[in-house]
Amino acid sequence: MAIQEQRLVLKNIGHIDPENIRDYLGAGGYEGLKKALSMEPAAVIEAIVDSGLRGRGGAGFPSGLKQRFTNDSRPGCRERYVVVNADEGEPGTFKDRVIMEQDPHLYLEGTIIAAYAIGASQAYIYIRGEYYESIRKTQKAIDDAYAAGFLGKDILGSGYSLDVGIKLGAGSYLCGEELTMLESLEGKRGNPRIKPPFPAEKGAFNKPTLVNNVETLANIPLIIARGQEWYRGIGTGDSPGTKIFTISGQVEKPGCYELPMGVSLRQLIELAGGMRGGKSFKSALLGGAAGTFVDESMLDTPMSFDKLREKGATLGSGAVIVMAEGDSVYDILHNCLRFFRHESCGKCVPCRVGTTQLVRKADKLRNGQPGREKLLSEMLRESEVMAATSLCPLGQSPILPVESAIRYFKKELLDGEA
Ligand SMILES: Cc1cc2nc3c(=O)[nH]c(=O)nc-3n(C[C@H](O)[C@H](O)[C@H](O)COP(=O)(O)O)c2cc1C
Ligand code: SF4
Repeated sequence: MAIQEQRLVLKNIGHIDPENIRDYLGAGGYEGLKKALSMEPAAVIEAIVDSGLRGRGGAGFPSGLKQRFTNDSRPGCRERYVVVNADEGEPGTFKDRVIMEQDPHLYLEGTIIAAYAIGASQAYIYIRGEYYESIRKTQKAIDDAYAAGFLGKDILGSGYSLDVGIKLGAGSYLCGEELTMLESLEGKRGNPRIKPPFPAEKGAFNKPTLVNNVETLANIPLIIARGQEWYRGIGTGDSPGTKIFTISGQVEKPGCYELPMGVSLRQLIELAGGMRGGKSFKSALLGGAAGTFVDESMLDTPMSFDKLREKGATLGSGAVIVMAEGDSVYDILHNCLRFFRHESCGKCVPCRVGTTQLVRKADKLRNGQPGREKLLSEMLRESEVMAATSLCPLGQSPILPVESAIRYFKKELLDGEA
């Protein structure tokens, strides 16, 4: 039987006016916040730990543990922050935009609950500067939440106070990386910081900071309102809940689809109307440029953080770019490498030189030069060295598409033909 969408995070989309807080309230909005405020902050954190929620920004880190670390770190420090990562720069990813444009109160509510849990009195939403509608609608949601008593001093008479403001990104992919984002948030150039310390210890303005993706936060009101056991019953043991997949490329109906974690790529493609024009599936790039190519042998693998990792693939942000027979894996790989070269900040040598070298070698591959086998092994070696020596995760990423393209499509890369 064909799989159906399971809309939890996207449940209000198309049913409410995102600019009308009364619509959101009528759909059960801010019930999670009301319940959270009736609980001890520590109990909110434990509920998120028990729910098994994992970060939807790409790394899949357990969200409850992150809250706990941020809450527990530097007990003497009175200031702490929540920063919402709404930079959405990973190629092929467009789910956070849908939440921000169509249901902004949902992730705002999640932000308020998370801030209450860790005792933050200030939250920032770092939104990609080109996302004009997301910025406008989020600002409207913030203004309406203040007016309704969900933000500001003494929220709903609980004694808890929180302010939320928007900061804009300026189109840098690297500024989606959490520590770089914090530099940019503080008004500095978007260069990465060295980890550790992690944001939970020294984040925005050197204070303990919880950084979460928009989709992650949008899950929180649902978990608090309906309970962690309910949430754990959806998805897989290692990755509870749903995931919003953004599927593009050679399918009939590209777009955002919310499905339980553990759905297969085959089911997702079917839901997206099947392969365009009845073409045969060839490959998909999972997780964007910092993701992995897979071939048809992976069509039935459950898509969860751990199940994909066991097979050497990534779920990442949930981007799925589908290729059909006749499409060139080389072209997509070449695009990814040019993207990394363009987005490298140039601060460290392995990435600054490595991203350029990778593009040069990929160019030589295209020109049909002899010694292609050697070129491929040099590209692999170059990206391994980058992964081991680069300062930040951007330079550690090219190994993912390079290694997986070679693993599945070596013959094509050697022959120079799709
Ligand atoms: C180069 C790079 C770009 C990133 N871009 C984003 C992004 O646009 N949005 C996002 O939520 N996370 C992005 N991340 C992941 C963040 O660093 C971080 O893991 C995430 O915001 C944590 O939130 P989560 O635990 O809710 O997933 C990026 C990471 C890297 C290395
Ligand atoms: S790895 Fe790349 S993006 Fe990261 S600091 Fe080094 S040069 Fe900059």
